[in-house]
Amino acid sequence: MHTRTLGSDLPVSALGLGCMGMSQSYGPNPGSREEMVGVLRDAVDAGVTLFDTAEVYGPFVNEELVGEALEPVRDDVVIATKFGWRIGADARGLDSRPEHIREVVDASLRRLRTDHIDLLYQHRVDPDVPIEEVAGTVAELIAAGKVGHFGLSEATVATIRRAHAVHPVTAVQSEYSLWTREPEDGVLAVCDELGIGFVPFSPLGRGFLTGTMDTTTAFTADDMRAGLPRFTPESIAANAALVRHVTALAADRHATVGQIALAWLLAQRPFIVPIPGTRRISRIRENLGAPAVALSADDIADLNGLADRFGVTGERYNPSQAQYVDR
Ligand SMILES: NC(=O)c1ccc[n+]([C@@H]2O[C@H](COP(=O)([O-])OP(=O)(O)OC[C@H]3O[C@@H](n4cnc5c(N)ncnc54)[C@H](OP(=O)(O)O)[C@@H]3O)[C@@H](O)[C@H]2O)c1
Repeated sequence: MHTRTLGSDLPVSALGLGCMGMSQSYGPNPGSREEMVGVLRDAVDAGVTLFDTAEVYGPFVNEELVGEALEPVRDDVVIATKFGWRIGADARGLDSRPEHIREVVDASLRRLRTDHIDLLYQHRVDPDVPIEEVAGTVAELIAAGKVGHFGLSEATVATIRRAHAVHPVTAVQSEYSLWTREPEDGVLAVCDELGIGFVPFSPLGRGFLTGTMDTTTAFTADDMRAGLPRFTPESIAANAALVRHVTALAADRHATVGQIALAWLLAQRPFIVPIPGTRRISRIRENLGAPAVALSADDIADLNGLADRFGVTGERYNPSQAQYVDR
């Protein structure tokens, strides 16, 4: 298995596994909870060492699932989780107050069945809590041995710099893929400059960049894509040309469409570690083939220009979700 290093000292498999879909967002699981435990363990056997979860996935049950599955191999894997939400009967809001971070970490440790979280991300920047206070709180948790490394998600360049000045940031996790290119506007550069790893989430465009969706694809009511502007039938029809182009390249390179999408991400920077999400071991194995796909400089240049040439229709989030993105 190819490996990469996040920050100065967190080696991980070049591709991690996004675990969110096993508890929310993409409709019914293809198997029982026990089968999902089996998929996670098979992922370890296949060479994955980085597992991505969050308190809010489920909420709570995704961490429990990951904790149960990885308990027997705890020392061989890197578990990343996230804090930052007020979760309760009322609507969800941001909450990165220091006392809340400390409570969440203790609860996450219990659910994950471990005494340390390898990588702890702030899930979204909280405008009501200075990032210096957040970084200082995580630094205390690191000093206490409860947390290994500090991460941020969907943070701006300015926030990353301020946080890193208080405690080194090991990884920034933000959406990045062939059709979502915002990190190229400064975030990748600041990660490069400061020695921070970058973890693209939704690297397969929530499944769209695998070439397996078209305008007839039906989403169940509990599938978040049913409410995302990029997944309306009109957007899917408009974005189909982009995927057709990747499909043709994939055929030429004897790779799958998803492998091309992941190989392109890996080629952008040596410190990039995508975390494709899937609930099927066959797809985990397929995705793990991406580092072996040889893209030429011409292929990469062609893919770099794809979004500009074809255009991308539909915002990545609806307005209620977009309000939480750091600006
Ligand atoms: N920090 C954040 O705010 C944030 C936000 C979103 C996600 N994340 C993290 O990032 C991870 C990955 O993102 P994501 O799950 O949203 O999107 P993704 O990885 O881009 O795509 C996931 C979707 O692609 C499908 N898929 C995966 N591999 C495939 C393949 N080889 N062929 C065909 N379909 C395939 C999956 O279906 P099946 O599951 O049915 O196989 C699922 O529907 C999440 O699991 C989560 O851990 C973080």
